[in-house]
Amino acid sequence: NWTMENFIETEIQRIRDLVGPTAEVIGAVSGGVDSTVASKLMTEAIGDRFHAILVDNGVLRLNEATNVKKILTEGLGIDLTVIDASEEFLGNLKGVTDPEKKRKIIGNTFIRVFEREAERIKPKDGQEIQFLLQGTLYPDVIESISFKGPSQTIKTHHNVGGLLDNMKLKLIEPLRELFKDEVRHLGELLGISHELVWRHPFPGPGLAIRVLGEVTKAQVEIARNADSIYIEEIRKAGIYNNISQAFACLLPVKSVGVMGDQRTYEQVIALRAIETTDFMTADWYPFEHSFLKKVASRIVNEVDGVARVTYDITSKPPATVEWE
Ligand code: XMP
Repeated sequence: NWTMENFIETEIQRIRDLVGPTAEVIGAVSGGVDSTVASKLMTEAIGDRFHAILVDNGVLRLNEATNVKKILTEGLGIDLTVIDASEEFLGNLKGVTDPEKKRKIIGNTFIRVFEREAERIKPKDGQEIQFLLQGTLYPDVIESISFKGPSQTIKTHHNVGGLLDNMKLKLIEPLRELFKDEVRHLGELLGISHELVWRHPFPGPGLAIRVLGEVTKAQVEIARNADSIYIEEIRKAGIYNNISQAFACLLPVKSVGVMGDQRTYEQVIALRAIETTDFMTADWYPFEHSFLKKVASRIVNEVDGVARVTYDITSKPPATVEWE
């Protein structure tokens, strides 16, 4: 009979058989549930012959790289290297405003950075890295076989085909038969914290598609600080798990405000929060008015460069979840 406990045991054995006694495996982690669960499973199977890489692309959430490093290394015993490639990503994004171009640039830069790093962490004993870990889930498998729908761009980003071709790596996908809720259950059995296991999804292109218009360090910082306050308040209110995804976007328009006796002229933050089961359709989340009031006041007061906060009350369709 199929149980998650049996799955762990058979999958660990399958990984060991596939990798053999000496080969090495690399994989990218994002701080999300899928890549963390896949990495933990690999570490259980082959220990420090699995090497995780977190690429800091300069458009991650506040303190994300530091937090992921701490949780994966200290908490889960995963061999993780954090690469700070912020300058390279932001350099490549300079002057770019088109959402799809941003996605492509981030995807391509990611592949270049990852390849370079994989070269550098070549194991000391001269063993070649032979395998690439991917946290592909069953719905991704189905979708890439049967259907090229609106989420095609999502798949392009997740698809590391380029890496496989250039580096001659073989793919390991230990989660390819699981649904998201099963991955969460697996994560809890593997000792990953409830908080991480139930984290909202975060897009690969990160804050680059939440800073509308040109992505600069200063703009990212505004979006990042506003987002951090918003999520902190959502957690404090005890409603994080009722919401499927929540985030702040920075709109590159200026608006007049007044602070003390000063007239201000600064940008606008739009807050988004949705409830959904499949992300194909979604409803906006009906916050208490007092909650919105508190978040708006904190953001305008605590984040330099913001004069106004709005709440997005559009469902999907017609709007998408992300603004870009
Ligand atoms: P949309 O905006 O398409 O979002 O309604 C649906 C879900 O997909 C996420 N999303 C992405 N994830 N790369 C990703 O890895 C992307 O380019 C991307 N675009 C959207 C979005 O955050 C939401 O969960």
